[in-house]
Amino acid sequence: MATTQENPLLEGLPLAQTPEPCLLVVFGASGDLTKRKIFPALYALAFRRLLPEKFAILGAARSDWSDDDFRGHMEAAVREFGRDEFREDVWDRLAEATSYRSLDFADDEAEEELTRYLQHVDEESGTQGNRVYYLAVPPAAMPTLVEDIGKRRAAQGWTRLIIEKPFGYDQASARELNELIWKHFTEDEVFRIDHYLGKETVQNMAALRFANGIFEPIWNRQFIDHVQITVAESIGIEGRANYYERAGAIRDIFQNHMLQLVALTAMEPPSDFTADSVRNEKVKVLKSIHTPGPKHVVRGEYGRGYVEGIEVPGYREEPGVDPTSMTETYVAAKLYVDNWRWADTPFYVRTGKRLPRRETTIAIEFKRAPHPPFAEAAAEELRPNLLIVHVQPDEGVSLAIGAKVPGLGMKLRTVHMDFVYGGAFQVEMPEAYERLLLDAMRGDATLFTRADEVDEQWAIVDSIVAAWKRDRPAFPNYAAGTWGPPSAEDLLRRDGRSWRHH
Ligand code: BG6
Repeated sequence: MATTQENPLLEGLPLAQTPEPCLLVVFGASGDLTKRKIFPALYALAFRRLLPEKFAILGAARSDWSDDDFRGHMEAAVREFGRDEFREDVWDRLAEATSYRSLDFADDEAEEELTRYLQHVDEESGTQGNRVYYLAVPPAAMPTLVEDIGKRRAAQGWTRLIIEKPFGYDQASARELNELIWKHFTEDEVFRIDHYLGKETVQNMAALRFANGIFEPIWNRQFIDHVQITVAESIGIEGRANYYERAGAIRDIFQNHMLQLVALTAMEPPSDFTADSVRNEKVKVLKSIHTPGPKHVVRGEYGRGYVEGIEVPGYREEPGVDPTSMTETYVAAKLYVDNWRWADTPFYVRTGKRLPRRETTIAIEFKRAPHPPFAEAAAEELRPNLLIVHVQPDEGVSLAIGAKVPGLGMKLRTVHMDFVYGGAFQVEMPEAYERLLLDAMRGDATLFTRADEVDEQWAIVDSIVAAWKRDRPAFPNYAAGTWGPPSAEDLLRRDGRSWRHH
């Protein structure tokens, strides 16, 4: 097998075990996700010869397309969104393995026919009844599909379900969906996507903490003043009003990506890196999270403004959005993790659409040195030590430290030690979906969320949302292209802190 040294293209992707032969069935194949993420990821895997030798893909959706229509759309998608050069030979192999069936998910007869067709593909392609079903469909379509797939499992081979977010709408609906899933599948057959876990830099959080001896002893309430996590996006809702109006920032980002980042930052070191050990530790953190009350959660909705020099409409003016919509496009919160390591250490988190730029960072601010033996004036430009994990863009890690300004006398200033991925490894990083698809095909669930994690995440969201029912903020309350509503600044100011400078 090729190593990453022989072939730098393979950097970052697991090589130890090529997946067994399998048939990947993508429900929701005419949707945005299939076009933007799934097919470009499949192409990248095909490009690196990481797909099984015996492999087939079936796209299924409502659109009335032929096999060739589907292949044409996916070729265009790979050309537009793929990270590699487009090579005819690679694409032809993938296209040859790809077919499409138009399907009304609620139609029993059509499901029956699909089952027969899948058996036929199995026989043709030698995929041995091994199936990965990728459910990239809206929540309403999920239960019927789960039920159908469960009832019509192939007689031989293994079955796995990849389930896209949103997983439920609240704790009750997520539980209902889990119950339904468990009627037909075991937990280790279920792969709930949170694509942030597939990002290299998010996994690097574990490497940073647990592969280095120097951080763990100071990774606690004694040395850390507070943590700030930012998931900022400059984009708006990109034509997804239907989905976003019901989700809002709290269900779209906070419930999943944001809380996972908190969990990875706060978790105890797992004894090994298996799916269960890692998820056991994360779920303990999620169970311990609380927000100290409604006053410590801020929500916002963007109005008109300028992002990167371009005038953009307000949220209520976006196509498909209710002109009086109370959906939040911004959330900031102060969270506490109630355990010995973190008691009384605030985790300030914020996420929003139409902020000035795209930036996901985890910033750990350490307590000030107990007694700097310098004159106050010498140290006035000195800030506390800050460790920043740059999840995206400019992936890397930086550490802010105090240093002496060259010259006579003693003047101190904060400087940065930087590790930048691009510079250190000189490779392009794989997209999250490449890693996740490959892991699901290999049966490794470490980077997927387990039912109990999702459950705890919803419990936190439900407690916040319940308080929102009682009041009606004056939306819109921040202009597109700004860092959110003024009350988000107050959230930290009250504690004598401020958001990391922008
Ligand atoms: C998705 C959300 O889960 O994550 C989107 O539904 C959001 O609204 C996206 O834009 C952000 O992902 P990334 O990888 O661009 O940070």
